[in-house]
Amino acid sequence: MKALLFITFLMSVTMGQGCVAESLSGNVADGKKSFKKCKSCHSIISDDGVAIEKGGKAGPNLWGIRGRVSGTSSYRYGNSIVTAGEAGLVWEKKEFIEYVSNPKAFLVAKLKDKSARSKMSYKLKKVSDAINIWAYLVSHGPNK
Ligand code: HEC
Repeated sequence: MKALLFITFLMSVTMGQGCVAESLSGNVADGKKSFKKCKSCHSIISDDGVAIEKGGKAGPNLWGIRGRVSGTSSYRYGNSIVTAGEAGLVWEKKEFIEYVSNPKAFLVAKLKDKSARSKMSYKLKKVSDAINIWAYLVSHGPNK
């Protein structure tokens, strides 16, 4: 009986960790679904022209976002995101999550400039969506 209890305990611990790891690393399939929230303004088009997501043109192409310096795709960015890139902002998971949750607040904090502005008017409400979208974007980019 004791052994059985112990096994049940072990299983619950390992399964619990599995779930935590999952939520931290994100789920690619869920990210693809949540990308619908970005698609009206963003495409994902690879360097050799393959359209992974054919979306709107209001925002920059998000292909290869991981490791990319902010504000450096071929797109007419606002000043603040370009300045942040010049100051060293590179898109990694943490920066990405903070940015998509509130682009303007992120740039204000990053540049320590209250007058910083973002051309991205959208705010993603759920951090879990941001984590999954990041996993989805990274799964297609060159820097996995
Ligand atoms: C209403 C249109 C719109 C929506 C919806 C939108 N964005 Fe954006 N996004 C923009 C614009 C415009 C910019 C350029 C910002 C600037 O120049 O200040 C941008 C910039 C970005 C950047 C910076 C890219 C770079 O090249 O430095 C990332 C990352 C990003 N968006 C991710 C997302 C994600 C993820 C979603 C969905 C959750 C999303 N956006 C939804 C319009 C949008």
